[in-house]
Amino acid sequence: MKENTFYVTTPIYYVNAKPHLGHAYTTLVVDTLTKFKRQRGVDSFFLTGTDEHGINIERAAEAKGIPVRQHVDQVLDEFKAAFARLGVEYDRWIRTIDPHHEESVQKLWRILDERGYIYKGSYEGWFCGYCNEFKDVDSDDDEPMCSTHHRPLDRLAEESYFFKLSAFQQPLLDLYEARPEFVQPDVRRNEVISFVAGGLKDLSISRVSVKWGIPVPGDPSHTIYVWFDALINYISALGWGNDKYHDFDRYWPALHMVGKDILRFHAVYWPAFLMGAGIELPRTVFVHGMLLRGGQKMGKTLGNAIQLDVLHRHFTNDQIRYYLLREVAFGQDGEVTYQGLIDRSNSDLADGLGNLASRTLTMIKNYCGGKPPRPESDASEAAAEVKLHIAEAKTRFNGEFDALNFSRALEAAWAGIAVVDKFITDNQPWKLAKDPSARPRLETVLATAYEALRHLVMLVAPVLPVTSREIWSQMGLAGDPLRIDPNAAAWGDALDISKIDHISPAFPKLDKEKIMTEIENETATPVVKEAEPQEIGAQQAAPPTTSGASAATAGVITIDDFIKVELRAATVLEAEKVPKADKLLRLIVDLGEAQPRQILAGIAQHYAPEDVVGRKIIVVANLAPRKLRGLESNGMLLAASVGEDGRPVLATFGEEVPNGARLK
Ligand code: MSP
Repeated sequence: MKENTFYVTTPIYYVNAKPHLGHAYTTLVVDTLTKFKRQRGVDSFFLTGTDEHGINIERAAEAKGIPVRQHVDQVLDEFKAAFARLGVEYDRWIRTIDPHHEESVQKLWRILDERGYIYKGSYEGWFCGYCNEFKDVDSDDDEPMCSTHHRPLDRLAEESYFFKLSAFQQPLLDLYEARPEFVQPDVRRNEVISFVAGGLKDLSISRVSVKWGIPVPGDPSHTIYVWFDALINYISALGWGNDKYHDFDRYWPALHMVGKDILRFHAVYWPAFLMGAGIELPRTVFVHGMLLRGGQKMGKTLGNAIQLDVLHRHFTNDQIRYYLLREVAFGQDGEVTYQGLIDRSNSDLADGLGNLASRTLTMIKNYCGGKPPRPESDASEAAAEVKLHIAEAKTRFNGEFDALNFSRALEAAWAGIAVVDKFITDNQPWKLAKDPSARPRLETVLATAYEALRHLVMLVAPVLPVTSREIWSQMGLAGDPLRIDPNAAAWGDALDISKIDHISPAFPKLDKEKIMTEIENETATPVVKEAEPQEIGAQQAAPPTTSGASAATAGVITIDDFIKVELRAATVLEAEKVPKADKLLRLIVDLGEAQPRQILAGIAQHYAPEDVVGRKIIVVANLAPRKLRGLESNGMLLAASVGEDGRPVLATFGEEVPNGARLK
């Protein structure tokens, strides 16, 4: 990023599930920030896109029963439609399957290889296919689970290319020391410093088991690790390493906005790759917190995400944008709720900015024939004070926005609104209007309120792009407030104002009770949401194979798909711990068949053998047999995964049911 240019990026989103509010968050923040910079005349570039390679994506396509390419195209369309619906205006969308991106990735690989930073070896470790990551686990844990996904990890041993990350420990520490702004906020910087100071292992950067990826140059039996591939999007999109674009010199280095979940990739691996290749480093990795629901990260894993279609049915884009930026201190985690969104919209938007606009404009219409009086510089002390307060609000807003403290920036603007509101109330223009001798005072009050409103609308336009335009045009002003630099606008410099005539509330008041009831009805589903029945431990989480072509959306199955799963009632006859396996119980269960079956279940840490003997349970009866610890498991029992630690709670019946009875 050069002197007067601004390059900002969002993470590129995995196309394994449809977008939710968590994805929209980073994107809306970046969109708002770009609008803010553009409004101030800064040559800005906003990049977003999709991360489309890897085992996760392969699995999602397999679950739908469609080719991977068709799957990624479908989810790409969903992301693009979601961002368009939110009014996001990005400059470029990068897909990791774009040929120019693949070219850049292979080029960076070759450079690192030529410089001696890549070597071939063998990697063995515990891998989570959902995180796409080998996990560090306790050495005495022989059946580790992914702490994010509550799924068993896969033991993988394969030939792999490695990046000499260990060689970058000191250079990285020097970087964090020399450039404290490189990772922000400080709490994240400290986290990264202690991680790197603890020692860096070389990084496995290729997979032989994953087919859907970019081939390793010169060894196509390997594909490039998705994170190596994905991070390079930030430069390939500008044309580094390819001939499709030529924007690298103009815009690089970037401000990367990322969630704290992907801190290490951006603050450790990415600068190490760039240092290795001799490429200039990003300006800043700014790390924000997570949107929470019920205290947990909102996301597809927990099924607790706020869905965008529900939001759009009840709220406008500006309400959503304002709420996210005002409610959650950027950089920290923040709980978001529909109630909170309604409350903020009503108090800050409808009763705050909206009310100031309509009362000011209505009075100008009623008392001045719709023509705003001109502000006089020496009109009154009180008016001069308002002018001063607005200038202060502007300065604070700019400073906080530049520091990415969006919530505080909005507080400053709303402090300005409160000042004008008080000024109007104190001066009671409705009384002045009745007294012809008070005409000059009335005009001063209305001119001041109008002018303050005009400056405030320009200020908040990046956060409220739609309603600021609406208010602007109701004010009789020409053009677009998003295209006028508030810092260049002077008090009273709007000369060409047309008659104020049509006034309508910019933010209608929301009926909380009605909206909450509607949302509850829309989001209530017959299946348990927070704690879905899950396979627990004993069986590998195989992707469900569905006939999917008929399923309209990802994650939706037809009744034909469901029928394939043979769920049967059973009774546990015997149970014992499996030696040297902390988590496994060996169960003998009666499914009403000629012979009882043996099933291994990963519940030993929560159920003692004697707790389960005699219990009526539900078994997936047609699961392919699988060997664990040399013992064959012939089926899987169902349990809900509850709470943060995913504690299993066995599914059962409230009434007597014979063994073998089918659930459908
Ligand atoms: N594909 C990787 C990123 C590669 S960047 C080179 C990835 N994708 S993701 O789709 O899983 O998540 C991307 C980002 O979405 C997160 O870092 C974060 O910015 C955002 N969020 C997803 N869920 C979120 C919340 N609940 N809250 C806030 N942001 C969230 O990781």
